[in-house]
Amino acid sequence: MLRIDKYIADTGIASRKEIKDAARRGLVAVDGKTVRDVGMRIDESSARVTYCGQAVNWQKYEYLMLNKPSGYISSTEDSSKTVMKLLPEKYTKMELFPCGRLDIDTVGLLIITNDGPLAHRLLSPKHHAEKTYFYRCSPPIGEAEAQRLEGGVDIGDYITKTATVELITPESGNITLTEGKFHQIKRMFEAVGSNITYLRRIKFANLSLDESLAEGEWRKLTPKETEILRKTGEL
Ligand code: URA
Repeated sequence: MLRIDKYIADTGIASRKEIKDAARRGLVAVDGKTVRDVGMRIDESSARVTYCGQAVNWQKYEYLMLNKPSGYISSTEDSSKTVMKLLPEKYTKMELFPCGRLDIDTVGLLIITNDGPLAHRLLSPKHHAEKTYFYRCSPPIGEAEAQRLEGGVDIGDYITKTATVELITPESGNITLTEGKFHQIKRMFEAVGSNITYLRRIKFANLSLDESLAEGEWRKLTPKETEILRKTGEL
């Protein structure tokens, strides 16, 4: 059961104060009946709520895909340039957060949600959710280095798990990991005598970056994509 003002505010269409004012003016209805007391609790799974004549489309969780640009940090702290600044403010109010982290200079696919249990499952080391990155490196690497990256390398405090590397050119390719240690790919390339000069995540937990999103742009996941993410979280 949820308070009616929270139920409406959760969708981001109005603030609690606006909802209270609208209810006083008879503009909030539940199952066709006007409700003036915004403290009233409703069954969120079955109630049909309207706000100013419009059906309210409540859902427990929100899932967004962002094409992260360089220069933004993957965090919710409001004092700095965070990825949350690229989204409408309502999402901060709805307590969305980035599912995992990309370095400040890494670009590409970031899922942003308020589904804590699913994010937790997808990020848990036990889960091995796959992440694929397109990289550019300098100096170039060859088959021998690619094979070392695939087999696991010593990055100082850790030996990486097996990975997949697809060389496109000696200076670029795709790398797929099932883990996410701090600066992992950069440290892996250093371990084989190269440096990452560009990193873009193109896949996360079976979801691909929508290439029509420019850097800094975002959209909601489609129902099909949300299903893929949930299914991956169950594996
Ligand atoms: N590996 C890195 O080095 N950086 C990232 O942002 C992601 C993976």
